[in-house]
Amino acid sequence: MSVCPYHQGQETFKPFDLTNPFPFYKQARHEQPVFFSEELGYYVVTRYEDIKAVFSNWRTYTSENAQSPFRPIAPKAKALMEAQGMIGLSGLSGRVPPDHTRIRRIVSMAFNLSRIKKLESRIRALAIETIGRFEGDGQAELIRQLAYDLPALVIFMLLGVPAEDVQQVKSWAESRLLMTWGDLSEDEQLVHAQNMVNYWNYCQNLVSLRHQTPTDDLPGDLVRLQAEGHEITDREIAAVCYSQLFAGHETTTSLIGNGIRELLLHRQSWEAICANPALIPNAVEEILRYSPSIVSWRRKSLEASEIGGMSIPAGANLLLVMGSGNRDDAQFDEGDTFNIERPNAKEHLSMGFGIHFCLGAPLAKLESKVVLEELTRTIPNLHIKPDQLFQFAPNTSFRAPVALNVQWETI
Ligand code: HEM
Repeated sequence: MSVCPYHQGQETFKPFDLTNPFPFYKQARHEQPVFFSEELGYYVVTRYEDIKAVFSNWRTYTSENAQSPFRPIAPKAKALMEAQGMIGLSGLSGRVPPDHTRIRRIVSMAFNLSRIKKLESRIRALAIETIGRFEGDGQAELIRQLAYDLPALVIFMLLGVPAEDVQQVKSWAESRLLMTWGDLSEDEQLVHAQNMVNYWNYCQNLVSLRHQTPTDDLPGDLVRLQAEGHEITDREIAAVCYSQLFAGHETTTSLIGNGIRELLLHRQSWEAICANPALIPNAVEEILRYSPSIVSWRRKSLEASEIGGMSIPAGANLLLVMGSGNRDDAQFDEGDTFNIERPNAKEHLSMGFGIHFCLGAPLAKLESKVVLEELTRTIPNLHIKPDQLFQFAPNTSFRAPVALNVQWETI
């Protein structure tokens, strides 16, 4: 078995440290593009072509481990969740065909471009209102004051969660990330498991309410499609709602945070989008490529196979490092260069590929586009506060600065 290139080049693999993993990724692509990490117990795949091939082959590489906790769930927390039928609960991402195909087809009918279009004016109003709150201050911490709440509020609009429930639901939903990708004590797990149960019950109730009163939102549409004869159960609708908030919140917060940071660090790019907002959509693709919200995602190999010349046994867990594949020079000219006019930027793998390709991609891109349009219009003279040390929360997959302090001159 080949081991990870710890002692070969100068860079080492630190799977939970996402501060600047890119030099290691580059080294791995050149020296040992597929390797086994003893620390994780996962085969790590770093080249574009290999990652795309795995994403494309769902028969051999299943997504059923995509959201399993990295650390085992403690017995008390497990018992609590088992009692509610929550172990292994997934909206779509961890499901496999034929269930995945059936449910995704129905969800796609409801979560379509016209539903997203309906949200655009509300997203813009929200962005204008949020920026307006700090516009006159001359400084801000943009993750807390802009990037964090906005995507959550958009998902709540999509799900039809009323304003008075927002704070409560948000505090429950945050537990999901910690339970799956975090490193919690047994007591902490119990608290978070209870939050997840509360949120799951809330989603189930959201669906029941739609049977009594039809509404113009995602669960309302899914209940309507069910009544028209499309095969989806109440439990499956609730699971889609349960997953949507997690799938679409912090990922989009990170896209906005990474985006503003990269654009300001590459000042000429910020100035280019201020002068010509038509460059923003491709800039968003380049941000996703260069500084992805999710740097790695998981698959499990159902049979013995070979990836990039490496033998992979049946049952092996795979960590696909999109953050590395996205910078592969074989796919992107000078992959380590940030270029908002890159012609093939949208070929990045940051939202997956194949049957599980991110269903919320148009919404996440729309939110980021609107925020960048409004921010460049309102505060074009925005600058990163100097001497700032950026911190990234320790985990294997979700990468964004914890805080982003900026300043500007006010008139
Ligand atoms: C920048 C923001 C986002 C990123 C980086 C992102 C990334 C991803 C990734 C990597 C996957 C797995 C793809 C695969 O396994 O091939 C995924 C799936 C998914 N995403 Fe996103 N996502 C984002 C925003 C959203 C939003 C806003 C929503 C919904 C409101 C959403 C809903 C979903 C759903 C439902 C799936 C599962 C699709 C399936 O399994 O068929 N995502 N996303």
